Amino acid sequence: MKKLFTVFIMFALTAGFCVYAQQFSPQEVKDHSIGEKAKYLAGSHVEKGNSDCITCHDGKVKVDDSETSINTACMNCHGDLPSVAESVAPKGEINPHKSHLGTINCTACHTGHTPSFVYCNNCHSFAELNIPFAGKKPQYKTFDVKDYAKAKPLFSEKYDLVIIGSGGAGYAAAITAKEAGAKVVVLEKMPIPGGNSQLSAGGTNAAWTKFQKLANITDSPENMFYDTMKGGSFKSDPKLVNILAFKSNDTIEWLSSYGINLSQVNAGGGASQPRFHAPAGGIAVGSYLINNMKRIAEEKNIEVRLNSKAVHLLINKNREVTGVLVEGKHSGLYLIQAKSVVLAAGGFSANAALVESLRPAFKGMTTSNQPGALGEGMALAADAGATLIDMNEIQIHPSVAVGSQILITEAVRGVGAILVNHEGNRFVDELTTRDKASAAILAQKGKTAYLIIDDDTVERLAQIKGYFHLGLVKSGNTIAELAKAINVPADNLAKTIERYNGFVAKNKDDDFGRKIMRQNFGHGSYHAIEVAPGVHYTMGGAYINTDAQVLDKDLKPIKNLYGAGEVTGGVHGTNRLGGNSTSEMITFGRIAGESAVKNAGVK
Ligand code: SIN
Repeated sequence: MKKLFTVFIMFALTAGFCVYAQQFSPQEVKDHSIGEKAKYLAGSHVEKGNSDCITCHDGKVKVDDSETSINTACMNCHGDLPSVAESVAPKGEINPHKSHLGTINCTACHTGHTPSFVYCNNCHSFAELNIPFAGKKPQYKTFDVKDYAKAKPLFSEKYDLVIIGSGGAGYAAAITAKEAGAKVVVLEKMPIPGGNSQLSAGGTNAAWTKFQKLANITDSPENMFYDTMKGGSFKSDPKLVNILAFKSNDTIEWLSSYGINLSQVNAGGGASQPRFHAPAGGIAVGSYLINNMKRIAEEKNIEVRLNSKAVHLLINKNREVTGVLVEGKHSGLYLIQAKSVVLAAGGFSANAALVESLRPAFKGMTTSNQPGALGEGMALAADAGATLIDMNEIQIHPSVAVGSQILITEAVRGVGAILVNHEGNRFVDELTTRDKASAAILAQKGKTAYLIIDDDTVERLAQIKGYFHLGLVKSGNTIAELAKAINVPADNLAKTIERYNGFVAKNKDDDFGRKIMRQNFGHGSYHAIEVAPGVHYTMGGAYINTDAQVLDKDLKPIKNLYGAGEVTGGVHGTNRLGGNSTSEMITFGRIAGESAVKNAGVK
């Protein structure tokens, strides 16, 4: 009897492996380190007997590229992200399960068969975040689209629209197209959606909006048009800027119609009026927009495929784009035939080699961008015959926290901060355009500067509390204490602040002509953040027309190909104004969606 029982237990214990034998070959089991040793997360789960292959794989060797089944399995056992966030880290500490990225896949960090990596540390350096089976930071490499020209897809699918990129432009196009009845799929090569839009900090430029009116700000699309043209050295395409400015109010209204309200209006660099629209309280605009757009996409059943890289655009003999070759993390190479393709794949600020080749002076500079911003969308467009314009117009943002990739939003200056150098002196109009502010910082000793704020400034912008949280701020109860903390001459800093307060009182900056000052200093403690320029935005890209059609070498539309957002060029000239990126991505994302739907003949 005892023997029989033992045999039964043995059977029960090995039943899972019998199932594997039916569905997973021994080599597959070995390749995946399952049942061998606890090398990675999967092996450890099996070894501990917590789960087996079937628990995560739903009985199949292959998982979908978005890893939905695995993530569902993780949540079935461990709870969803918010509940893990509550149990893992007490409030107030850095909590990777509760971040500006919103709800993301568990597998964005915890991988079963390879070393795991805390996704946040692609941009941050949170040494305290331990992850089981940790490995090195992944290297995000770009590829050559030409290598895929003759590749053979394993299978093929059909859609009305394929949208490449899940940043704000991609989501705006997808929502617009889906609402018009199109069959849409969004491809995202990274393990999380949102692209750089997710990181955008400050605001969304729009002119003559209900929120400006409520704040008694008088503005006009004409002003926004002129400021944008001027900010870009009049090198932008005026027809595109016209759309940006004159449709900007509609963009704010469109967002409002989904309950996305950018009701706080701040001042941005190079803008004659405050028109940097942010969520109430001054939280970061990008995560607010993307997390809401993710919600809308889910409500509308829009398919967003993660880990799915567009590697080649298919073009027929008439030079018409007919589809996209995709490399899925798990599904391999496959083809999506589509009536319209929308490129919304972002810029290339994280491609240090490309940045350096176009702007050698930016060699070795940090970037505020997510690691996927490598410029492949532009390569796809060029390979399809597109004209790329302004590729060497690369923006360095003046205020990236020194030693980090953390952008200190321009809105900090917009709500009152001043910039001082290591002598404690102001040296520039803090709200000039980014190119000028960056150049001025690079001309200072040490090529860095300090943003100076007080408690009042902190109260005006919730994001600043985040900088404290990230340990980027030095403080003092008095000017002298702060000066000591940042090692600048206290008497100079005191004189600078006193002089600036005088300018605020008479609303005239005699030294640098700053137009919007907003506050004097002297409210509570003083704080400083050391900043330096970092590669932030690439103004160039695939040239589009006002219908968001991508243009060929003769400036004729490439049939079936559309573009929106940072992958395109023409809107920003030599320098983009703060707040014009999120504005452009929604405005042109919607136009691209509308045009692509019309082209696809969706009724
Ligand atoms: C910022 O907030 O300074 C960045 C936002 C933008 O690039 O427009």
